[in-house]
Amino acid sequence: VEKTALLYEGKAKLVYTTTDEDVVWIEYKNSATAFNGEKKADITGKGRLNNEITSLLFSMLHEAGVENHFLERKSETEQIVRKVDIIPLEVVVRNITAGSMAKRLGIEEGIPIQEPVVEFYYKDDSLGDPLITEDHIEILKLATPAEVDMLKHVARKVNAILSKFFASKDLRLVDFKLEFGKTNEGKIILADEVSPDTCRLWDIATNEKLDKDVFRRNLGSLTDAYEKILERIGGEQHV
Ligand code: C5P
Repeated sequence: VEKTALLYEGKAKLVYTTTDEDVVWIEYKNSATAFNGEKKADITGKGRLNNEITSLLFSMLHEAGVENHFLERKSETEQIVRKVDIIPLEVVVRNITAGSMAKRLGIEEGIPIQEPVVEFYYKDDSLGDPLITEDHIEILKLATPAEVDMLKHVARKVNAILSKFFASKDLRLVDFKLEFGKTNEGKIILADEVSPDTCRLWDIATNEKLDKDVFRRNLGSLTDAYEKILERIGGEQHV
């Protein structure tokens, strides 16, 4: 396939149509954003790192039986994926308290959660991506109750696979966000990305943060952190 026209520009990616109507071409940008776009920076190497890490993780998930949109990495910063209509829901899974849940519930970060928690956020920048309930999802017609059950089931399965994988690389999967989309045939599959932009990953021994919190909280070099993740999960090294 070849890329044809720009379809959409997001905060972290450019999406192009291709010569195949069932395939889109994604280019990962170097821009980092946080707090609903309030904090922004351009970070050399970020696009390459996320493209490479997402490609590795989606291939691994595919092999583990989780259908997803990833097809092939095309260059350092580009990949092709199956075209889907993204469901405007962010499905968050949490194994350890952190981030917005710790803040919302007034609890400390870093406390293990016995049974992983699944949350839904409504993807809407103007509303600030609010936390929503399953009833809200039904009212907004974002997904049917059966689809919501399926999303939770797949999210838990992804959590089990990724937690085990990262633990084998001495990384703790604290929490992460997934997005799903509908293919042209109407099938719901995992889409978007799985990277240190969308996961919290802590070093198992030191609890060092190796994810986007490094940027959100000014903890040091984001690319050094992402490079460590890539190195540990077995990608190419660019030193
Ligand atoms: O901010 P919060 O604690 O709700 O984030 C939970 C997880 O979801 C984190 O791993 C974060 O990186 C991810 N997330 C994301 N995109 C968002 C919101 C959260 O990838 N818009």
